[in-house]
Amino acid sequence: MSQPTIIILLGPPGAGKGTQAGLLARRHRFAHISTGDLLREEVRKGTRVGRKVGEIMEAGELVPDELVGDMVRKRIVSGDGEKGYILDGFPRNLAQARYLERVLQHVTVVAVNMDVDEEQLVRRLSGRRYCPNCGKIYNLHLSSQEGESCSACGAELRQRPDDSEEVIAERLRVYREQTEPVIEFYASRRNYFSVDGNRGVEEVAGDLSTIVNQMVRENSSAEAPLRSR
Ligand code: AP5
Repeated sequence: MSQPTIIILLGPPGAGKGTQAGLLARRHRFAHISTGDLLREEVRKGTRVGRKVGEIMEAGELVPDELVGDMVRKRIVSGDGEKGYILDGFPRNLAQARYLERVLQHVTVVAVNMDVDEEQLVRRLSGRRYCPNCGKIYNLHLSSQEGESCSACGAELRQRPDDSEEVIAERLRVYREQTEPVIEFYASRRNYFSVDGNRGVEEVAGDLSTIVNQMVRENSSAEAPLRSR
C-alpha cells in the first residue's frame, strides 16, 4: 500500500483554496479538510465553543491553535482519505505548522502556495456568495454567475459575515502577520510549489493537478502506513 499524501494549500483569504481543494478532492479522490468549514459547522451547532468561535471568526482573527489542531489531527487519523488529504486553511501560523510536522510521521507532505494579487483578493471576497442549503460557492463577478439563487437547489444565496469590507481588511492583516511566515517554513523543505492563482479556476486547477499527479506517482512505491503521534 502506498503511503498517503498530504497536500497543503497555502494562500491568503480569497486565493481560491476552497474552490481548488474541492476540485482536487473530487478529481484525485482525496479527502478535503477545510478548517473554516469545520469551524463554521461548530458555530452552526450553537454550542458554547461554537458561540466563542463564531465571535472570533466574525472579527477576522484566528481561533486557538489547540482547537483547530485537534480537529485536523482527528480527521487525518480517521483514515477516510483514500489517497490522502487536502488541507485548506491549515496550518495558518508557525505553531500550527510545527504541530503538523510533529503529528505526522512517514507521510509525504506537499505544500502549494497560491499567489494572488491583493486587488483580486478583495474583489473575489466581496463578490463571494454561498448557498446555505447545499454549501455551493459562487461569485457575483464570475461570468458564469446567474442571479442570486443557487443553481443546484434554488435557495437564496448569502454572504459570509466575515466577507464585509472591514473584516476582509483584518483577515488580510492577520494573514500577512501570522500566515505568510508559514510559506517560508515550507519553502525551506522538500515538495514546495508555488502557482499563479490570478488566473481562471480551470487554469489554476490544471497546474495543481499536474503537481498532485507527480507527487502521487513519486509516492506510490512507499510502503509505510500513516501514523500519528
Ligand atoms: P477560511 O474559511 O479558511 O477562510 P480563508 O482562509 O480566509 O479563505 P477563504 O475561504 O476566504 O478563501 P479561499 O482561499 O478558500 O477562496 P474561495 O475558494 O472561497 O477561514 C475563516 C475563518 O476561520 C478564519 O478567519 C479564522 O477565524 C478561522 N480559521 C480557519 N482556519 C483556521 C486555522 N487553521 N487556525 C485558526 N483559525 C482558523 O474563493 C473565494 C471567492 O473567489 C469565491 O467566490 C470563488 O468562487 C472565487 N474564486 C475562486 N477562484 C477563483 C478564480 N481563479 N478566479 C475568479 N474567482 C475565483
